[in-house]
Amino acid sequence: MEQQKPLVSAQDVAFFQEMGYWVSPVVLGPERLAQLIAHMEQVYEGQFETGRSPWPGYWQPGGNPQALRRTVNASWSDHTLYALATDPVIGAMAGALMQADCIRFWHDQLLYKPGRGTGRETEKANVGWHQDWSYWQNCLEPSLVTAWVAFADTDENSGCMQVVPGSNRWGLVKINDFFDQDLQRQQRDIERAAGRTFRPQPVPLKAGQISFHHALTIHGSGPNRSDAPRRSLAVHLMTGNTRYKKFVKDHMNVLLMREDGAQLNEGDLFAGRHFPVLYPKAD
Ligand SMILES: [Fe+2]
Repeated sequence: MEQQKPLVSAQDVAFFQEMGYWVSPVVLGPERLAQLIAHMEQVYEGQFETGRSPWPGYWQPGGNPQALRRTVNASWSDHTLYALATDPVIGAMAGALMQADCIRFWHDQLLYKPGRGTGRETEKANVGWHQDWSYWQNCLEPSLVTAWVAFADTDENSGCMQVVPGSNRWGLVKINDFFDQDLQRQQRDIERAAGRTFRPQPVPLKAGQISFHHALTIHGSGPNRSDAPRRSLAVHLMTGNTRYKKFVKDHMNVLLMREDGAQLNEGDLFAGRHFPVLYPKAD
């Protein structure tokens, strides 16, 4: 992506800070999208051009093709996906929205929500309401943002992401479950626990558009009722002042920090080779 002019206006920043999400113009063209889809398929076939597999424990080649495929750090396996996950234009947009002078890669998730084209029912393809920060409790502050890159058009019929506008200002709610399939019951439970009413806002995207959501923004998605699969890469990013905090369970990125022998102390920055800088762009 070449950045011709600032893609994020002051109005966009104000919208993001108020509502917790923002949708970019189309920033990826058809040629790049076709490449991304081809490389997504290569990863699903187990062709890892870097020789490195994605992070274990999530959807891997050979997994149930009818389930929601959620492959963590697919960018480790593929140069084309890595280029997207570390794209400086995405970094610049995230930096503007978060009002941060540095944006680093946190991790990514290659997502594939099967359509009905195969004639088989998709299994457990809803994404339950959750705030990303609830899964990143090793981070001291919710100083993270997700760029959700649509490889194909997605709308309510194909199970596009839905957000709860303004929930980025609610703090961490007690009920968070990516895997919960009953979004309506979950909504009632969250409303009761948070003492607030929420109206989900679908975020339809054209292929090549990117939606950004803050780490505290409640989001989820419903089933894909279309014939085509819903394809995307969720690029999780952090500001340059994202710091470690102890938690009962270590996030994979804590393990990666320790891999290099770091003695992690409360308040240490997440930095180093596993967390490349997207913004400012290195020359
Ligand atoms: Fe999420």
